[in-house]
Amino acid sequence: MYNDKVIEHFKNPKNFGKIPDADAVGEVGNHRCGDLMALYLKIDKESQVISEVKFETLGCAAAIATSDMIAEMTKGKTIAEAEKIKFQDLVKELGELPSIKVHCADLAVHGIRKAIDNYKKKQTK
Ligand code: FES
Repeated sequence: MYNDKVIEHFKNPKNFGKIPDADAVGEVGNHRCGDLMALYLKIDKESQVISEVKFETLGCAAAIATSDMIAEMTKGKTIAEAEKIKFQDLVKELGELPSIKVHCADLAVHGIRKAIDNYKKKQTK
């Protein structure tokens, strides 16, 4: 069902965990499957570069693999660059996902976007 890359990110995620002093948190869930993701970001205020990304995901193998991959893809990018990442980019980076698991990539992308939105709101306060 899953390719080796997806299995690797599921079994040995490099970015699993929480950032206690995160600059931004994005929490999302899918009400149909019940999977939940929380993405934590450290963002450099000057450069707007995302320096660290961690996740806590309660869900399927694809939800964990896509959370880990979105962390890899957004680390080192500016928030403007990270916002442009689409779920199709994430699926491509993982090689492939079964069609019934594509929504897991969509959830991970929404998690990052939500974290960035929360960060922006905090900056304008
Ligand atoms: Fe819903 Fe994976 S089955 S996020």
